Amino acid sequence: MQTQLLSATPQAVHRAAQLLQNGEVVGIPTETVYGLAANATNAEAVQRIFNAKGRPQDNPLIVHIASMDMLERLAKDIPPAAYKLAEKFWPGPLTMVLPHQDSLAPQVSAGLDTVGIRMPSHPVARSLIEQCGLPLAAPSANRSGSPSPTTATHVMNDMQGLIPLVLDGGACEVGLESTVICFTQGDILVLRPGVVTQQQLADAAACNVQLVPQEQAIRQNIAPKSPGMKYRHYAPKATVVLVDASDSEFISYVKQQQTQQGIYALCYSEDISAGLTQAVSFGSKNSPASQAEQLFSALRRLDELGASLVYARLPSENGISLAVRNRLLRAAEFRVVRPQHKQK
Ligand code: TXA
Ligand code: MG
Repeated sequence: MQTQLLSATPQAVHRAAQLLQNGEVVGIPTETVYGLAANATNAEAVQRIFNAKGRPQDNPLIVHIASMDMLERLAKDIPPAAYKLAEKFWPGPLTMVLPHQDSLAPQVSAGLDTVGIRMPSHPVARSLIEQCGLPLAAPSANRSGSPSPTTATHVMNDMQGLIPLVLDGGACEVGLESTVICFTQGDILVLRPGVVTQQQLADAAACNVQLVPQEQAIRQNIAPKSPGMKYRHYAPKATVVLVDASDSEFISYVKQQQTQQGIYALCYSEDISAGLTQAVSFGSKNSPASQAEQLFSALRRLDELGASLVYARLPSENGISLAVRNRLLRAAEFRVVRPQHKQK
């Protein structure tokens, strides 16, 4: 199969809507990351997503909608807090896991009685959903295990020959996948942190918001007991090691380690200004939003440079930084070194 790459003009969006109605898979821009979209009500179409992505069948997909009507046709027992959050954060980078009705292809929810639903804000994604009139199942458009794509070129690199069309809607504004939450006994549980933060959720829903136990483990720097392939996500080809250190310690530690070709730093732009070389920046130290936006393309850049070993900054646990930290911890398979006494 030849994969076409088209700039997201009205004609191209129309073409994509036709393909989706015919049960095909299309690479589409969203404000978070690019998605691999198909008609969520068509089992064959959804299966094509799993095949193209190489995704384990037991990992459920997020369904993308363009209206509250669509939400009410797909989900049931929607708690009042979900409406409050939709009001505040939709369209935008928040996915809510809710009990589903029977209208979706069973693989979408991988046998669970719930479905993750999100209303994206990207104009191309929205007009596509509206034009084909279908809820679109769409995981991130990377091959399973590699960093999520934040440009159409990233999608082409992973999906060439596997899907008929990729729509180019420019670089993704957010750059990290949506915050995923579910509701339990009046509380909200964050299953995957994103740029919609724990605090923002608590303020908007006026209820208790907890991070899933694994997140608590990450926050306390306790690596899971059974590491391995299960946790290898967002990973470049290189081995990634996170360095928990002050600014000056990070720079001097990385310089000491850079004894041969292929050893890179994944750092803040300020570290490069301070003299670090063989380094790729993932944004500014003082701008977690820029780090979210740039992290995945920085990881892909390290592959292009042929990096074999990467020492990366460990962002803090506050606000948006927690989401960046979560992706980096997984890319590093939870390897963290602390070179010296950390100066707080
Ligand atoms: O920003 C995003 O969320 C992007 C764009 C394309 O919308 N999509 C995305 O999809 O990141 P994916 O498939 O790469 O990640 C979906 C996450 C997975 O961790 C999956 O396990 C979780 O959401 N998920 C989906 N449905 C779920 C459910 N019913 N219960 C629990 N977790 C669910
Ligand atoms: Mg993904």
